[in-house]
Amino acid sequence: MALVLGIESSCDESAAAIVDGAAPDLASRIVAQHIASQDEAHRPYGGVVPEIAARAHAEKLAPLIEATLADAGLQLGDLDAIAATAGPGLIGGVMVGLVTAKALAMAGDKPLLAVNHLEGHALSPRLADPTLEYPYCLLLVSGGHCQLLEVRGVGDYRRLATTIDDALGEAFDKTAKLLGLGYPGGPAVERLALEGDSTAVPLPRPLVGTGDPNFSFAGLKSAVARAKASGASADADIAASFQRAAIDCVLDRTRRALAGLSGMTALVVAGGVAANQAMRAALEGLARERGLRFVAPPPALCTDNAAMIAWAGAERLAAGHRDPLDFAARPRWPLDEAAAPVRGAGVKA
Ligand code: KG4
Ligand code: ZN
Repeated sequence: MALVLGIESSCDESAAAIVDGAAPDLASRIVAQHIASQDEAHRPYGGVVPEIAARAHAEKLAPLIEATLADAGLQLGDLDAIAATAGPGLIGGVMVGLVTAKALAMAGDKPLLAVNHLEGHALSPRLADPTLEYPYCLLLVSGGHCQLLEVRGVGDYRRLATTIDDALGEAFDKTAKLLGLGYPGGPAVERLALEGDSTAVPLPRPLVGTGDPNFSFAGLKSAVARAKASGASADADIAASFQRAAIDCVLDRTRRALAGLSGMTALVVAGGVAANQAMRAALEGLARERGLRFVAPPPALCTDNAAMIAWAGAERLAAGHRDPLDFAARPRWPLDEAAAPVRGAGVKA
């Protein structure tokens, strides 16, 4: 394992990080990192505006990379490889990051790793916890995805379930918007939920109890909209009831997926929504119930960051992977390419 620079630009975080793949623990594995959130730029629009995002990445990435190298006391020549998110995500931003990585790889004569952003999330728990071994059951919950995966090894992912409509982070963001909490919504809903009664507003648990472990959140979101429009409930009660319903769905679906698996080393959660403390606590309880270890990266490694991209690059490099300098950005890029498409899924990256 090696010194790898990672670049992330698939959504609204511009980030650079250098990881040392050979270091023994999280503290020493992340040699340096810089992250610039674009929240302020997108806030007036209530969501990410792709054109604004791409321009901001183009402005911010070079100084972020320079600062990261300076903090690490390293120069381009000291690195073993350059990794960047090559998809899925907003294509303009992905292209900015990927072309930056290609230029550095060419200038420094270094291997390029074109990393699937979802693989970054999927392997981030191994960056955080060196004792986590394959295979593990992963719940990947972000702004664009809600999947259960069997992570068998680097580049070896079997999709067990996905959402047939909205992603979980999207449901949190839409709930936040309905409650006037602004963007990004997940952390705001979680904060407001702490002040509410999670049993106050009756909300549906879509697909709970069904045979395959797929997810659906569109009906839950509509029910939240009706609850808000009726004016009968306090916002904090709606937030708490929504979060409880979402967690109930996740628990039921994950329990269903685990029932069909054997030999897992752990139940693992990753992606932006994994930063949610109530969700983590509930999943930890499920892991205990199943006699499994529970692993969740620290919240800062759950939301988009470049350390997870650098780490996925380091794992791929160690496994002998290299990508060509003409690798084309992929706005859609499933982790399990063999998985059959599910109605309505994969609409957003
Ligand atoms: O992984 P991520 O940073 O970006 C994507 O790749 O999508 O995930 C962002 C998503 C957003 O929908 C955000 O609202 C949600 O993760 N999120 C949370 C929390 N923190 C971030 N959702 C619930 N609770 C949180 N604490
Ligand atoms: Zn992400």
